[in-house]
Amino acid sequence: MQDTSFAIHPGTKKQSIGENFKDIGAFTSYTVEEDVVSFKTENGFVSVIFYNNHTVRVTMNQKQQPSLKTSFAIIGNREGIIPNINENENDVQIKTNDLNVIVTKKPFRISINDNDGRAIVEEGKNGMASNENGEVICFKKMDEYDHFYGFGEKTGFLNKRGEKMEMWNTDVYAPHNPETDALYQSIPFFITLREGLAHGIFFDNTWRTHFDLKSEKDTYSFKAEGGQLDYYVFRGPTIKEVLNQYTKLTGTMPIPPKWALGYHQSRYSYETEEEVRTLVNNFLEKKIPVDAIYLDIHYMNEYRVFTFDQDRFPTAKSLVEDLNKVGIKIVPIVDPGVKEDPEYPIYQEGVRENYFCKYLEGNIYFGDVWPGNSAFPDFTNSKVRNWWGQKHKFYTDLGIAGIWNDMNEPAIFNETKTMDIKVMHENDGDPKTHRELHNVYGLLMGEATYEGMKKQLNGKRTFLLTRAGYAGVQRYASVWTGDNRSFWEHLQLALPMCMNLGMSGVAFCGPDVGGFAHDTSGELLIRWTQFGTFTPYFRNHSAINTVRQEPWSFGEDVEVLTKKYIEQRYVWLPHLYTLFQEAHKTGVPVMRPLVLEYPTDVNTFNLSDQFMIGENVIVAPILTPTTKHRVVYLPEGRWINYWTDEILEGNTHHLVEAPIDILPIFIKEGSIIPHGTVKQSTATPEDELTYHIYLGKDKYASYRLYEDDGQTFGYENGETFEQEIVCEKEQGTISISVRESNGSYDPTWTKETFVIHACSEDVVVSINGEEVYAVDKKYDHATNKLTITTLR
Ligand code: GLC
Repeated sequence: MQDTSFAIHPGTKKQSIGENFKDIGAFTSYTVEEDVVSFKTENGFVSVIFYNNHTVRVTMNQKQQPSLKTSFAIIGNREGIIPNINENENDVQIKTNDLNVIVTKKPFRISINDNDGRAIVEEGKNGMASNENGEVICFKKMDEYDHFYGFGEKTGFLNKRGEKMEMWNTDVYAPHNPETDALYQSIPFFITLREGLAHGIFFDNTWRTHFDLKSEKDTYSFKAEGGQLDYYVFRGPTIKEVLNQYTKLTGTMPIPPKWALGYHQSRYSYETEEEVRTLVNNFLEKKIPVDAIYLDIHYMNEYRVFTFDQDRFPTAKSLVEDLNKVGIKIVPIVDPGVKEDPEYPIYQEGVRENYFCKYLEGNIYFGDVWPGNSAFPDFTNSKVRNWWGQKHKFYTDLGIAGIWNDMNEPAIFNETKTMDIKVMHENDGDPKTHRELHNVYGLLMGEATYEGMKKQLNGKRTFLLTRAGYAGVQRYASVWTGDNRSFWEHLQLALPMCMNLGMSGVAFCGPDVGGFAHDTSGELLIRWTQFGTFTPYFRNHSAINTVRQEPWSFGEDVEVLTKKYIEQRYVWLPHLYTLFQEAHKTGVPVMRPLVLEYPTDVNTFNLSDQFMIGENVIVAPILTPTTKHRVVYLPEGRWINYWTDEILEGNTHHLVEAPIDILPIFIKEGSIIPHGTVKQSTATPEDELTYHIYLGKDKYASYRLYEDDGQTFGYENGETFEQEIVCEKEQGTISISVRESNGSYDPTWTKETFVIHACSEDVVVSINGEEVYAVDKKYDHATNKLTITTLR
């Protein structure tokens, strides 16, 4: 009855946060053992551990000494830092070089300062508390100038101040609107930006958790249904450093295979082999680039995972091989539900070996999903993860290198939408209920799949797409934002959602381009594809019974424009790939909110309809129908319209023209952007690299390009290529220096072109001191561009 007016029946009293919680009470004593400082209070126990100089962990247990076991999210180690401790009458201070934890005694409250004395987090009237239901809560002071980012996959605007959010992995087919809270991912991590400086908190609790940045003016809280209060504070002080510190603990994404960054085409479902072949021929004939085609649930024999339907896909192996030959990969869907069928080997094995989730009493849990009654692997057991991973040999033997994990919240077709929370997970000998481990089910399925595929592929990179996850999901998978709809509102929603996923460690993410459910339109498809060119993950996907959504589905005009932007993806790939490598190294996302680069600019704090690709490119998509212009905010500096080379002053808003063929893009003056060439897929080696140089008034611009073979883990052993381009201007001369790193990878391109924008014809240009160029020099009077091509 929740969707009738009964929901607001006068008798329905809402419980407010903080009710019935008992404060942890005053300090009673403390002890120190190696790097762990343990406190006892009137009503609980608290441990404080410095993981490293920038990160401190606080754990509270109301009944006993806190367990220092971490969740599956954490892979970073403690550095064994022994802090200095000073006890006074009123407080205990625990100090390292960078952080100072001040524990006041009466009441027991924790404040954390950095070594400049900046208060990072502070407790006030309320601190830590728990109640008889086993819920735990923590309150922190909220400054007037605090802005909040992260929290994983959430609807709404960029800045989460004033929001209440819940983490409970949920299959939400509909709706995705500002009221929709828990979605497929649970990432209880956020960044606070306060007067230009940032810090982060990761609340590592896998139970259902709640964050309240709304109920009180000067306090926010986070709480969990059970477990310990266990959180990490990251010092920052920049957003980039917070992300770096957070991903030190939870991991960064491996560099994806290059084909995973190309354009992907999906549909629920391409139902037969013939349909897939026709689809591929269409792409090839129309010369529309594509790197991957997805097989949704229809490819299976009655939705049994690790099978192909022999009637629909009689020669799956040759299909995969033929596609591989033309540079296109097949990505099949794999859901966790295993069909209950005593004649199905996977089911038999799972039952015999005790691999499925069970009730405490020993009976297997069954839930209804696509295959009907199904059992669910208990991914909390490492044995089960190995088994599941190993089963992927079925796919790799066919030549498949990428997998799509869906329904792994896990989603079940019932009232609660998921597994009975009373089900037990074996958890490698430390059994826990589903209530406690629900939020990590998808993460662990991801681990099983990723590691299994990696093993089978013998040194080749795999690609995994997942719907559900928990903090750390970036180690295994790219995340798409689930079942959106072909609404303009959902295009709008995708920007802040993906930016916040990026601010939650998940650099590789994107929505279904064109919208999944509902019928898209030609115009929406064009605008969404324009946006997709720059989302880290770029897949067009649509649901059964909706209009077709392939680039050519709306006639020639729409095809020409979607094709143009799919091609742009390949043009921008060298820059994107460099940014993916940066994300792999540092945790800083590819797609960035402006606030990440301009944290003191008030105009960026909640800027939700434009974003950056790296630090010098602003993308401002059109997000409403029949719209041919929009307002774009450009921060300090000067910016160049990518299409026209028009120079625009920063620190102000501009009304920019954007007819249907234009996605507004702006490049910061004083920067260099590399471009590749249009190709059918990433399987075609790059033969020419072009550096666009936008010096403008600036005298200096530089760029570091990253490249490797795009396929293997050779990059872990120095098989890389890095090129640093430095461009300097001095009275009528421009000198470009090209420095290559000593990595052992030799890139495929032989030609290198430098396009100097806004340049006069008589400028003398030298490349590494030479004024003679191996190939060509051209000046275009109409655009004031000087183009020099050399050989590498
Ligand atoms: C879920 C997925 C969707 C997929 C469908 C059928 O709704 O989110 O992407 O196409 O299941 O497998």
